[in-house]
Amino acid sequence: MKYIVTGGAGFIGSHVVDSLIDDNHDVHVIDNFSTGKKENCNNRAVYHELDLADFSISNNIVEIMHDADGVFHLAALARVQQSIENPVKYETNNTFGTLNILKCASDANVRRLVYSASSSVYGNTETIPCKETDQINPISPYAIQKYYGEVQAKMFSEIFNIQTVSLRYFNAYGERQNIDGAYATVLGIFAHQKLNNNPMTIRGDGGQKRDFTYVGDIVRANRLAMLSEKVGFGEAINIGSGQNFSINQIAELLGGESIYVDPVVEPRESLASIAKAKDLLDWEPKQKIEDWIPKYKKDLGI
Ligand SMILES: NC(=O)c1ccc[n+]([C@@H]2O[C@H](COP(=O)([O-])OP(=O)(O)OC[C@H]3O[C@@H](n4cnc5c(N)ncnc54)[C@H](O)[C@@H]3O)[C@@H](O)[C@H]2O)c1
Repeated sequence: MKYIVTGGAGFIGSHVVDSLIDDNHDVHVIDNFSTGKKENCNNRAVYHELDLADFSISNNIVEIMHDADGVFHLAALARVQQSIENPVKYETNNTFGTLNILKCASDANVRRLVYSASSSVYGNTETIPCKETDQINPISPYAIQKYYGEVQAKMFSEIFNIQTVSLRYFNAYGERQNIDGAYATVLGIFAHQKLNNNPMTIRGDGGQKRDFTYVGDIVRANRLAMLSEKVGFGEAINIGSGQNFSINQIAELLGGESIYVDPVVEPRESLASIAKAKDLLDWEPKQKIEDWIPKYKKDLGI
C-alpha cells in the first residue's frame, strides 16, 4: 500500500513512518522541517520538503498523492505556550495546512485521512474522565486550531470524496520526544534538566495531572483507524492511557532534586475515557509510563 505521512519528520510522525516501513508499505512524507528533524528520517521513505500551508503547491501535493491509499496527517505546530505567543503564525500553519491537505487528498481520490487531533480541545474540564461527547472548551489558539481541524475533517467526509477520522491524543511520550528548546514536553524538560545536573522545575504546585500516552500506542491507534470498517465519517476518538499522573509523581519517578516555579495557564487535569477507541478501533494502550521511565533513565544515563 502507498501511504502519505505529513509531519513524518516529527516525534510521533517518524514512528508512524517506521511502523509503515516495517510492514513494507510505500511511504511518502511531507514535512517542512520546521520542528521535524533529519535524524528522525527513515532511509526507506521518500521525503518531500514542502510547507502544507502554502496553497500554491497544492498541485505538487496532489501529484505526490497519486494512487495513495491513505494519509496520516500529523503536521502541525504543536505547542500550547508557543501558540499563545504566536497565535497568527500558528493559525496560518495549522488551519491552512489541514485545509490544504484535506482538499488535496480529496482531489487525489485518497480513501481515508487520519487526523492527529488533541485532548487540548477539552480545556479546563470539570468532567473526568473526558468523553468525546463532553462539551468542547479550547483555551488556547493551538486547542482551537486542533478542534477546527476536526470540524474540517468531519465536513470533508460529509460533502467531499474522502473518509476521515480524528484521534485526540493525550500527552504523548516516548523515544525521540523533544528534550530541549521550546518544543520539549514535561518529561523531556525534566530529562534535559537532569542531564545538565539542574533541578527539575515544577510549574505551580505540581498537582496538575496528565494522561501520558506512549507513542507506540498512538502509532497503533493510527494504523487501526486507517483500516477499521467502523469509522470514516469524521469520528473524534480519544487516544489516552486511561490513567493519569501528577507532575509531582513524574518528578518522583525520575528521581532527584526539584524546585517549584510560577504556574502557567493550563488545565488542572486530563484523563481520557478510552471506551470509544476500544469499541471502534479495537485499540487498548499497552505501555505503562511507570515501566517506561526506568528504561528511559537507563538509556539517557540519568
Ligand atoms: N505530542 C503530543 O503530546 C501531542 C498531543 C496531541 C496531539 N498532537 C498532535 O500530533 C501531531 C504530531 O505532534 P508531534 O508531537 O510529533 O510534533 P512535532 O513538532 O514533533 O512534529 C510535527 C511535524 O510537523 C511538521 N510541520 C509543521 N508544520 C508543517 C507545515 N506547515 N508543513 C509541513 N510540515 C509541517 C514539523 O516539521 C514536524 O516534523 C501534531 O498534529 C500535534 O498537534 C501531539
